Amino acid sequence: MLSEEQIARYERHGAVTIDGPFTDAELDRAEAAWDRLRASRTPPWAEPDYVDVIQHPFFEEVARRLLRADAAHLWWGLAPHERGPAEPPYLEPREQWSQGCHVDIQATLEDFESTPRRMRAELWIWLNEVPEHRGAMRILHGSHRTIMAHWSRVLHPAHKAMLPRVHGLRPPPVDPGDAAFPEHIPELSDTPWVDQQPTPAVARRGQILLLCSAGLHSAWQNRDTVPRKALGTSWVAEGVRCGLPKDQRDRLMTFFPELRKRLRPERRHIAPDRFDWLSESDYEPKWEETFPED
Ligand SMILES: [Fe+2]
Repeated sequence: MLSEEQIARYERHGAVTIDGPFTDAELDRAEAAWDRLRASRTPPWAEPDYVDVIQHPFFEEVARRLLRADAAHLWWGLAPHERGPAEPPYLEPREQWSQGCHVDIQATLEDFESTPRRMRAELWIWLNEVPEHRGAMRILHGSHRTIMAHWSRVLHPAHKAMLPRVHGLRPPPVDPGDAAFPEHIPELSDTPWVDQQPTPAVARRGQILLLCSAGLHSAWQNRDTVPRKALGTSWVAEGVRCGLPKDQRDRLMTFFPELRKRLRPERRHIAPDRFDWLSESDYEPKWEETFPED
């Protein structure tokens, strides 16, 4: 299911792609459910063929092993991710990277290396093939470690205690209209982040990307004629406190009970019915140490 070598690659690169458990017929059902969801206003938890994917024990078990946890549950839902074909003229790769690169999770290296890991495990299953030109996500291997080590150095202890949290940040320049402004990921080596080379997360249909989104990654233009189709899920170790912006926290507490009702009884624990593991964490008040004046 998940080899030591694959876990080591996740730790070193912040990402690894593994084989999934589904047959072609099961993937056909899941992809058809994805297509129906994109064509309707139905919420993803109301589509039984889609819920069946996420309640497969494989995901929970992979998350548990990746997070070195006795138990794990969902931290977010089962979003259908679409990367539709882009209209030419296409942007240059450097332009796409400089516009799109960001992190989603703020955590320290100690969070990542603890047992259980205090990190959000992103598990993305690809419902169709992901060749490089079909908008394969770009990931800057190893940046998760450099950036988490930075948070380890600069954050005040009281703030470290509020991690991990969903907190989207990017390298400068940050648009003054951006919620994070003026917070950013500072340059941490001689080569600016935007001049570093990300790797395309190519995959075969049914494979699963295990991503640590505390590192830099970016959406990418799809130069194909069909969309890239993914089901994104995220998980956390039992007992780890997680921060979410208020709007996301409110949404989670609304849709988890709906999802839970539709899970098989023996799978209900993956969507907890209590939320004491979830705290509210917004861009305000700012953490001053994350954007020093220099
Ligand atoms: Fe992201």
